[in-house]
Amino acid sequence: MAQLEFIVWQQNYSVGNKEIDSQHKELMNFVNDAIGHSTGNKKAESDYFSLVIKPGIIFLQKHFDTEQAAMLAQNYEGYQSHKTEHDKMIETLTRISDDVLAGRQALNLLEIALFIRDWFLNHIQEFDQKAKDCFKYS
Ligand SMILES: [Fe+2]
Ligand SMILES: [Fe+2]
Repeated sequence: MAQLEFIVWQQNYSVGNKEIDSQHKELMNFVNDAIGHSTGNKKAESDYFSLVIKPGIIFLQKHFDTEQAAMLAQNYEGYQSHKTEHDKMIETLTRISDDVLAGRQALNLLEIALFIRDWFLNHIQEFDQKAKDCFKYS
């Protein structure tokens, strides 16, 4: 697997809040782990996906809840649009998870991992950075 595909934490991803930064790091580890498990071995990939997708979505929702609570506490004007981005991502991942686990969609682990990686990096740099002022007070 090309090293370039993995996410490497950078200081400019920081939102100035220890809990949120450590959740971001944990999510990055999760994505890197999924990329690392994208070996092309269908059975192994499918076993891995079945094991991690639900706890992964639960952890992601917990992370979104942490951010949303901080934004609400500061009456952040961008709360609704930021929350909408979170909700859409949870919906998308839940649909992919349901479809793959029910056999309605073939699993492409690498494609899913890279989709999450790209969404996540864009979201941190766009939405989470904008809400930095709320996060640093929470
Ligand atoms: Fe975030
Ligand atoms: Fe966010």
